[in-house]
Amino acid sequence: MNLRLKFNLVMIAAMTLGLALAWILTKEITEREAKRSVMAEAAAIMGMADAVRHYTGTQVQPILATQMQAQFLPQSIPFFAVQQTLEALTQRFPEYVFRQPTTNPTNPADRPAAWEGDIIKKLAEEPALKDLVTERKEAGRDLLSYVQPIRVESGTCLACHSTPEAAPRSMLDIYGPDNGFGWKVGDTIGAQIVSVSQDVPHARARQNLHTIMLGLCVVFAIMLLVLNILLHFSIVRPIRRMSKLADEISMGNIAVPEFPAAGKGEIGLLAVSFNRMRRSLVTAMEMLGD
Ligand code: HEC
Repeated sequence: MNLRLKFNLVMIAAMTLGLALAWILTKEITEREAKRSVMAEAAAIMGMADAVRHYTGTQVQPILATQMQAQFLPQSIPFFAVQQTLEALTQRFPEYVFRQPTTNPTNPADRPAAWEGDIIKKLAEEPALKDLVTERKEAGRDLLSYVQPIRVESGTCLACHSTPEAAPRSMLDIYGPDNGFGWKVGDTIGAQIVSVSQDVPHARARQNLHTIMLGLCVVFAIMLLVLNILLHFSIVRPIRRMSKLADEISMGNIAVPEFPAAGKGEIGLLAVSFNRMRRSLVTAMEMLGD
């Protein structure tokens, strides 16, 4: 096996091993990072939901309070405003689904599914918990969800959610007196949840992984090329020349020139030794010839 082939085989084996190790490590990191970035986007969506709620509660609700006695205006309800706004937003980002399930909801559409009920219970048991990330399978799809608790933080909510007597008449006409009452300040009444298919972070992670691996392959290919050029000019070519000269001398051709100086490295030292040997041989042959 010639030197170049041996070098290339060893280098390619080492690089393949390096690529495999890089793949394993990078796959893990890119998966984690993609999940983190998707959850950060979910948190931003929720931040927007909070802002809409705050705006509706502080700016819209007071203006419409008197009109609410005669006619129910859902536009003044913070959680209604959020549902409407986020429906419009998630139409533009269809991979995200927003829900605000509540244990005892005013609107039956907000009743929690079994898994949502479990999460609300967990959030109620741990009042210090600000958010959490859950993973689950639904209809054969892997889903990732970012969850924040909905807590009754001020008495203003109780105007509509304490007792049916305290609530505006127009609201009772629509929702009835049975649901969405009996809440107290400090209660964890529900959760807001942004869910997204695991395919989204997986696709992002895969794209990042492929870009990084492609970059590594290019770096390795350049290294291999540089190594081959170096090998050719500083080792293979001088050794081939020297061996050709040695062949000629051994055939009795003493007219061959000296091997040109090849620097101070190992090949240079070999060239010096080779030239000295050539001179001794030539002298010996000349003496024999006499
Ligand atoms: C003016 C009355 C009113 C006030 C004040 C009010 N809500 Fe509501 N809330 C409603 C109505 C009506 C709905 C149902 C809206 C719909 O159809 O989606 C609702 C819906 C909700 C929902 C969604 C689940 C459900 O019950 O359908 C939550 C959670 C909620 N409110 C919490 C609060 C909190 C927390 C506050 C205080 C910051 C508050 N609400 C203030 C009337 C009110």
